[in-house]
Order: sequence, then C-alpha cells, then structure tokens
Amino acid sequence: MWSDVKPILRPRPDSNDDADYFPSTPRKDWSIGVAKVVSFLAVFMAGLILGSSINAHFGRFYTSQADLFFPRAVYSDCDGNCLSLKHFIKPSHLMHSMTDEELFWRASMVPRMAEYPFQRVPKVAFLFMTRGALPFAPLWDRFFKGHEGLFSVYVHSLPDYRLNVSKESAFHGRQIPSEEVSWGSITLVDAEKRLLANALLDFSNERFVLLSESCIPVYNFPTVYEYLISSAYSFVHSFFDDSKQCKGRYNRRMAPLIKLSEWRKGSQWFELNRELATSIIADRKYYPLFPKYCRPSCYPDEHYIPTYLYMFHGGSNANRSVTWVDWSRGGPHPAMYGAKDITVEFIQAIRNNGTKCEYNSQPTSVCYLFARKFAPAALEPLLNISSTVMEF
Ligand SMILES: *[C@@H]1O[C@H](CO)[C@@H](O)[C@H](O)[C@H]1NC(C)=O
Ligand SMILES: *[C@@H]1O[C@H](CO)[C@@H](O)[C@H](O)[C@H]1NC(C)=O
Ligand SMILES: *[C@@H]1O[C@H](CO)[C@@H](O)[C@H](O)[C@H]1NC(C)=O
Ligand SMILES: *[C@@H]1O[C@H](CO)[C@@H](O)[C@H](O)[C@H]1NC(C)=O
Repeated sequence: MWSDVKPILRPRPDSNDDADYFPSTPRKDWSIGVAKVVSFLAVFMAGLILGSSINAHFGRFYTSQADLFFPRAVYSDCDGNCLSLKHFIKPSHLMHSMTDEELFWRASMVPRMAEYPFQRVPKVAFLFMTRGALPFAPLWDRFFKGHEGLFSVYVHSLPDYRLNVSKESAFHGRQIPSEEVSWGSITLVDAEKRLLANALLDFSNERFVLLSESCIPVYNFPTVYEYLISSAYSFVHSFFDDSKQCKGRYNRRMAPLIKLSEWRKGSQWFELNRELATSIIADRKYYPLFPKYCRPSCYPDEHYIPTYLYMFHGGSNANRSVTWVDWSRGGPHPAMYGAKDITVEFIQAIRNNGTKCEYNSQPTSVCYLFARKFAPAALEPLLNISSTVMEF
C-alpha cells in the first residue's frame, strides 16, 4: 500500500545527485607525483571550462547543478547544525525529501518526558487542502495578523502548483511536498495524513484544523485559539445511521478488524489534538482496509477518521464539527455562497443562530468557528464586514 504513493523530488542517499546530503571528503594523498598533479590540473581546468560554459546556460538562475535539482534554500534541512534541538523541534524548511512512509514514521514519535526543555507555546496548525489558488488568503491574513507565534500554516496543493503570495502573507513558503489528489478516493485521506504529519514535525503544534480554499473564519483569532487550545475534546463529526450513505457503505470484509457496530461517518473537515493526530498517522492496521474495501461509492475521507476515532478515542471526540456548512438545499454538494449572499445578518447567523451545543460539557452558543463553502467573489464583501462582524 505504502509503495503506491509516488514520491516527488526524493533524492535517495545512493543517488549521484546527492552532493548536498553526502558531501565527499577530499582525499589527502601527499605522495601524489608532480606529473599526476599536472595532468590532474589539466583535466580539472578542462572540466572547469566545460562546467562554466554549461553554467552560463543555467547560471542566471542556479548557482550549481545540484542547486538546479535541490535548491539549497528550500531543501537543506539544517544550516550546518543538524543535531541542534532547534531544528529537531521545528524544522526550518517545509520542503523535504522523505517518502510518506518515512514522514509518517518520524511524525509518529512522541517524547517520553512530560516537560519540554524549551518554552513551549502551544500553536494551532491550519491545514489547507487545495488544488490551486487560495482566494480567501487576504481574509485569512487579516485574521492571522498580530498573532505570530500562536499558529502555523500548511498548504497541500497539486504537486506542480506554486502559490503566489507576498512575503508578508502567512501562506508564504508554507507549501508542503504534495501529491496528486482525486476527490472521493483514498488519495484524499493520504493528503490529510500528509498535512497532519508535516505539521506534527513542529513540536509546538497542539491542535490541527483541516480547511479548504472555500473556507473562511467566522470568529477572530483570539476566540478561535482559546476555543481550540482549551477544549478537552477534538471536533470530528462522527455518527451512524441506517441509510444507504452510511450503513450501506460498510463492507463486511472489513470484519473482524472493523465491525458494523463500529462503522462511522462524518464530514472530513476535522479538528484534532496532537495525541489524536499522532494516533492517526501511526495507524497501519485499520487504514489499509479503506483503500481495499471502502469503494466504489464509498468515500474514505468520510469514514476512516470518524471510524478510527470512534474505535480508539471515542471519549476524546465532541462528535461535532466546528466548520459550518449548509446541506439544506439537498443534492451531493453543499450550498456555495457568493458575493450577494454576504450580509452582516448572514455571518451573524453562522456565528450564533440561537442553537446551543456543548463545549467542555457546558452549553454554549458558539458552535462554529469556520464556515464553507464560499465563492471567490465573496472575498470583497467579507473584507468589508470582517471588522464589524468578525472583529478582525
Ligand atoms: C504573482 O503575483 C503578482 C502580484 O499579484 C504578479 O505581479 C505576478 O505576475 C504573479 N506571478 C506569477 C508567476 O503568477
Ligand atoms: C462522542 O461519542 C463517543 C462514542 O459514542 C462517546 O463516548 C463520547 O462521549 C461522545 N462525546 C461527547 C462529548 O459526548
Ligand atoms: C442553526 O444552525 C443549525 C446548523 O446549521 C441548524 O440545524 C438550525 O436549524 C439553525 N437554527 C435556526 C434557528 O436557524
Ligand atoms: C461595504 O460596506 C458598506 C457599508 O457597510 C457598503 O455601503 C458597501 O457597498 C460595501 N461594499 C462592498 C463591496 O460590499
């Protein structure tokens, strides 16, 4: 199963292009003859001339051939100090050459010590799953502004997509090594796990929210941060019913590992704490049943995490999502809101429509922190009312 996932730009330790990773040590052979030195120099000079003529072609953009394939700025993991704690607890570059199998193994590591040897300020990791552009980046940037150090952003896109945002944006340089995703297939769960695993590499990330390019925040950052960091439960929608779309998607061949009584369904837009995120990344027993038996007309992203959490972490789940969505219009897709729909009253109703839900076992009217789905045209009117309604 794991070998099905195709790597992108993954230098192997035994490949020749690996100059940055395994620099060869120059040999110190002082007995070398003068003739040898001269002929060596001749060959060296010839190589230099040839090399610089090749370089003239690429030189405008790349300083060396190794840089052409593995730009140092993006791919070097540590600046000459690979064993420092600083790089271990928070890798300085998001791009890496690990396969999913290697990444998940590394991300699944949990310290045995309860205390940290550094000042750990818990952060919320915002995991954006998109094919391409993030039309609401300006709204999110306004939401994040002034709260640096309390959040991290990760973006999974199509492998070739390059996000074009300004250096000041919270999304700048936040793309992770990504793979092709086809909606409704197991590759979507793989992408979710890839986002989780990359975010787990930063030991300060404590809560993990999955979002899409059509999601917006409906409360300001301090409210969202406090709500998530102080929650005793994670927010993953999880339920069971007798319908064709729930019970009907269970495959008996999943038994005995997953029984029908354990089968769950829910929206993919999860919010997980670090312990649950690590548990999902580390699962190699139940996950493989989903690419095998959750198909066709079964959507692994709606079943794997809700079922897995029900089986092993039921008591840690609020069983509801913090992402608002409108299914009231029926059909296979939820309602999409455009520019005309954006009013103070509409956003106010998402923030609080009178319905109560539970937060840390107490009733509250703050049930949703995020909302979907919004069309790109909704950006301008949302920016217009964000300070009055959403208070950011
Ligand atoms: C990136 O965005 C800037 C500003 O919007 C634009 O000028 C530039 O052409 C864009 N670059 C690419 C590669 O799309
Ligand atoms: C969520 O569901 C699980 C399993 O049914 C249950 O154990 C747990 O108490 C529920 N969570 C809350 C907050 O009610
Ligand atoms: C409030 O929102 C919830 C969830 O979207 C919905 O089920 C409920 O009917 C709404 N209540 C009112 C009074 O609009
Ligand atoms: C912005 O809000 C003002 C007043 O609230 C309104 O007059 C104006 O039309 C709005 N602009 C957009 C683009 O929605």
